[in-house]
Amino acid sequence: MSEATFLPGTYSNQPQSGRISWRSPSNIALVKYWGKHGVQLPKNTSVSFTLSNCFTETTLHYKKKETAGYNFEVYLDGNREEGFEPKISQFFDRLQKYLPFLEQYSFRIETSNSFPHSSGIASSASGMSALALCLMDLERSWSGAEMTDDHFDKKASFLARLGSGSACRSIDGPLIVWGEHPEIDNSSDLFGTKYPFEVHSNFMNYRDTILLVDKGEKQVSSTVGHGLMKDHPYAEQRFEQANANIVRLIDVFKSGDLDAFIEIVESEALQLHAMMMTSLPYFILMKPNTLEIINRIWKYRNETGSKVCFTLDAGANVHVLYPANEAAEVSSFIESELAQFCKNGSFIHDLAGIGAQSL
Ligand code: PMV
Repeated sequence: MSEATFLPGTYSNQPQSGRISWRSPSNIALVKYWGKHGVQLPKNTSVSFTLSNCFTETTLHYKKKETAGYNFEVYLDGNREEGFEPKISQFFDRLQKYLPFLEQYSFRIETSNSFPHSSGIASSASGMSALALCLMDLERSWSGAEMTDDHFDKKASFLARLGSGSACRSIDGPLIVWGEHPEIDNSSDLFGTKYPFEVHSNFMNYRDTILLVDKGEKQVSSTVGHGLMKDHPYAEQRFEQANANIVRLIDVFKSGDLDAFIEIVESEALQLHAMMMTSLPYFILMKPNTLEIINRIWKYRNETGSKVCFTLDAGANVHVLYPANEAAEVSSFIESELAQFCKNGSFIHDLAGIGAQSL
């Protein structure tokens, strides 16, 4: 499938004005996307759990206009956020070819997150996918021809990717693959697809408690981070390793082998951070409390035989992953031992979910 699949058809019955709302969740990568080329194309395959409780809700108001160019305003929790607008403008530039109506309307984008803006949880995946879904919904209702759900989901994911790579994994759930892989039929660099193989019941409703270690602005933006992979001495080995971990995970998802799952997921998190430590310039994104939490998780696992593990994004917060049947024990472990290392003791309980929904 090529980009041309997503070029628009003809529109009919376009209204003067209206509005549309979508809720889209965040996602957490098990095999990480880190390094890109071209326009938001991944250097390796990644796979993620779509989340449920961490989401963005976006309402898009649209009104026909006569003037040329884009016209939009962005509001976060009711307040104008001019700081977001350059990013949206770049997003619209990338989308224009696929959604020519972007220049025909003025837009008011009202957005809010279920998690605090200052939490250090990236809102780009949920935010960009929610906006892409609103736009896609307009295209669907104005298209002359009938649109299949499959095309809707693929194009929404394709558009979301052009806003933020990982956003393409937030349309559907609970396990989404992005990046062409020889062992996974229909996988694509252009959009996320549902993980197509057998998944053991151990992975149903998998839990992710996000420990908010550092709520500040990201030390390194993901654009800069991906850029650092360009001349990175270990880049090729890293991309190979990620693609090999995908192959290992296929067996693990089938067999339900949680020890092997833990090994892959924790290794992936540490590889991501190792890439940041060995790039030029170099960064340490973990904080002392991140390491303290990791050590406590390892100790707890050794002492109890629990299958809890961690993963990290490109920041100091820790995602604590565990099977649903350990929810009660691990929650009390988090409250009694890990919460003390979080800013104001804060964490968010989440779990794997089914993807975005229209509101
Ligand atoms: O979608 P971006 O460009 O913000 O990149 C996200 C990269 C990681 O979150 C660190 C890993 C991933 O696969 O989600």
